[in-house]
Amino acid sequence: MKPLPPGSVIGILGGGQLGRMLASAAARLGFDVHIFAPEDSPPAARVAAMHWQAAYDDESALREFADACDVITYEFENIPVQSVDFLVSIGAVVRPGAASLEKSQDRLAEKQFLNAIGIETGAFAEVSSVSDLEQALKTLGRAGILKTRRDGYDGKGQVRLKSGDDLAAAYADIDEVPAILEAYVPFEREISVVIARGADGSMAAFDPSMNDHAGGILRTSIAPCGLSDDIIARARTMAEALARETGHIGVLALELFVLEDGTLLANEFAPRVHNSGHWTPEACLTGQFEQHIRAVAGWPLGPVTRVFDAEMHNLLGEEALAPADSYDKDAVLTLYGKRDAKPGRKMGHVVARTGRA
Ligand SMILES: Nc1ncnc2c1ncn2[C@@H]1O[C@H](COP(=O)(O)OP(=O)(O)O)[C@@H](O)[C@H]1O
Ligand SMILES: [Mg+2]
Repeated sequence: MKPLPPGSVIGILGGGQLGRMLASAAARLGFDVHIFAPEDSPPAARVAAMHWQAAYDDESALREFADACDVITYEFENIPVQSVDFLVSIGAVVRPGAASLEKSQDRLAEKQFLNAIGIETGAFAEVSSVSDLEQALKTLGRAGILKTRRDGYDGKGQVRLKSGDDLAAAYADIDEVPAILEAYVPFEREISVVIARGADGSMAAFDPSMNDHAGGILRTSIAPCGLSDDIIARARTMAEALARETGHIGVLALELFVLEDGTLLANEFAPRVHNSGHWTPEACLTGQFEQHIRAVAGWPLGPVTRVFDAEMHNLLGEEALAPADSYDKDAVLTLYGKRDAKPGRKMGHVVARTGRA
């Protein structure tokens, strides 16, 4: 596919805040954006040229959407792989392709894939019954995190366990769905690498950020991450291998645990722009949203040079109703336009530029 000229239509599967910020970045480059999402008036649809409101498996709606779009991308990883396969089968260009999506939807397949391409993870075991769980907890060192294989986000679908806990109750807590048990990783800090791979195979990684979570939800990302050049180089190499091996076109994010001795263990990856990259538009020459649009449009990637040190804070639930109280006045505010400020829901974020890079 030739680079798309301005005025072309970029379709996005998914209507959340990531789609909203992608749509804004695309508009700035002269593209029109069509959002395909089942919800009524989701955040992304309210900044886009058009909203196709239909179920992700509605093939006649997908067909019309494909006819209207020059390229199609996605903004969240729980789009059915079959929908992407269908779009490709009728001749649509979908970037990134189904491979990245498929690998990231299932925590078991994801970890096996990461290990197979030489990216180390913590120890894990498949859990399909209480007796699997019992056995896994013994093997993995008596403390672990039980996670549903599919559909988890923001720490949802996870139960922390140690030996002596009621395992039947824990498995019932996640509705006895297919799961994995992960050994608890005693990390020194968490970082992520947000990387873009262009249609020509070129790659550009942002400086890794250090990420702080509370209750499984990202609260803060800080760049630079404060680690040695050697660790940063290894983190980038891992993200590059992942982008290359999935044949990814667009942005992806690799979440890593950093151990005391500098060992890096992959936690998970997202085949899309990522919350831990929300500082990039304010701190780098090209932000993650513009970069993703450049990649899927077949444009050259932009320079990812970091101009500022930065701190990104998420605004959760009611924090976003009075944002002026939650950040200092020099910070840059982004609100997602969500109508219901449920506790813990990501409603917006602020980015403080804390110094010159
Ligand atoms: N095996 C683990 N050991 C230690 N902490 C973990 C482990 N798995 C997850 N966590 C903590 O929980 C957070 C959320 O878990 P994650 O697997 O990334 O799920 P989600 O898909 O909800 O982001 C991680 O960023 C980390 O802080
Ligand atoms: Mg995560």
